[in-house]
Amino acid sequence: MTAPVSPHLILVTGAAGYVGSHCLVELLTSGYDVVALDNCINAVEGHLPDTLPESLQRVQSITGRSLLAYYKADLNNATELEDIFSKHRFSAVVHFASLKAVGESCKIPLEYYRNNVGGTMTLLDTMRAHSVRRLIFSSSATVYGTPEFLPITEEHHTGRNCTNPYGRTKYFIEEILKDLCASETGWSITSLRYFNPVGAHPSGIIGEDCKVPNNLMPYITQVAVGRQPFLKVLGKDFKTKDGTGVRDYIHIMDLAAGHVITLDKILQEGWTGWNVYNLGAGTGYSVLEMISTFEEATGVPIPYKICDRRCGDVDELWADISKASSALNWKPTRSLADMCAHSWNWQSKNPMGYRSAAEGDGSANGVRQSPVKVPDAAVASGVKALNGKSKSFDREVNNNDEDVTVF
Ligand code: UD1
Repeated sequence: MTAPVSPHLILVTGAAGYVGSHCLVELLTSGYDVVALDNCINAVEGHLPDTLPESLQRVQSITGRSLLAYYKADLNNATELEDIFSKHRFSAVVHFASLKAVGESCKIPLEYYRNNVGGTMTLLDTMRAHSVRRLIFSSSATVYGTPEFLPITEEHHTGRNCTNPYGRTKYFIEEILKDLCASETGWSITSLRYFNPVGAHPSGIIGEDCKVPNNLMPYITQVAVGRQPFLKVLGKDFKTKDGTGVRDYIHIMDLAAGHVITLDKILQEGWTGWNVYNLGAGTGYSVLEMISTFEEATGVPIPYKICDRRCGDVDELWADISKASSALNWKPTRSLADMCAHSWNWQSKNPMGYRSAAEGDGSANGVRQSPVKVPDAAVASGVKALNGKSKSFDREVNNNDEDVTVF
């Protein structure tokens, strides 16, 4: 695959996670050069020393391009960040790295604030010190909290209705970013508020890797592959078309395309200050509609039981995407059936996610399993330097790794 060479080098934080890895595919195929950073708190690492995390090896296989460098590094470590920024001249940063589990955030809020808010502060300090002032921030519809009108526009207030610490970290970061843009000219920061990203790269080579899923689509695919006996439909007494919760599901590759389009914009002269866009499909589907669409798209039956509601779930939530559509000229193109078929393609080829390949015989999926060496400079300063170092906090408290997807 050939891609036009771009003069721009992009730093991607949280690169090995679900959204990060799919965006990397789009960035690399669009010709951007990329330095990837991840603390691997929730990524499956390469099975040989000094190799890339499994997801990043596969990104390279899909695109036929190499990352310029990969650093296993934590955003809260200012020294490491300084080192990385000293080695590379970045045009912009795409910032995915974040803890994202709603339930866990209620149990260990300080870790969420330290990781998400603190990590972003360190990143911004380092960016400013190196005069890198273009940023795309991975935000979430969770900043809207319980919606007061539908479809939700970017003008809907944020923060006030947030129902959990995870959501508040995204809200607080957005406030910090707004203040920063107001305080100094030259910053160009765009926050992309995701609705419910699902699906996988159509190849089935990368996808969402969950041990124990919290969200609907990974749960459905694990039922389909036999890792879970049945789906729990969490409530049938919502004020919706069939009583089950309604959400706005967006194909992960449409979401990824939205990042590249945004990046193209913020690299243009004159595209400055604070901007925010919803990235969703603009349509709501119920849980029962998701089940029936999945069954039709894949031919795999999904047994389910109606169970009690999960605490904090809202009735319905879907996006008004007209702002992104007009300002960015972005529109999602994949259907709900595509989302289901691609999720299933990934899960059926990788029943245990990336772990099957990283821990197995290396033959899974036709994907090259030989180690992909990290560029020497990156190994020296990133991977090797960090091996054996303690994580930013003690994750023994969390017994569900999926909860802490880099996102
Ligand atoms: C969740 C997160 C939100 C995050 C978003 C990203 C929670 C409470 N919220 O939102 O912060 O930004 O994902 O995708 O985790 N459902 C079932 N059975 C299940 C799982 C879910 O019936 O096993 C239902 C839920 O009740 C809901 C719908 O499926 O109606 C979607 O749930 P989920 O995929 O967890 O997404 P959100 O709750 O919208």
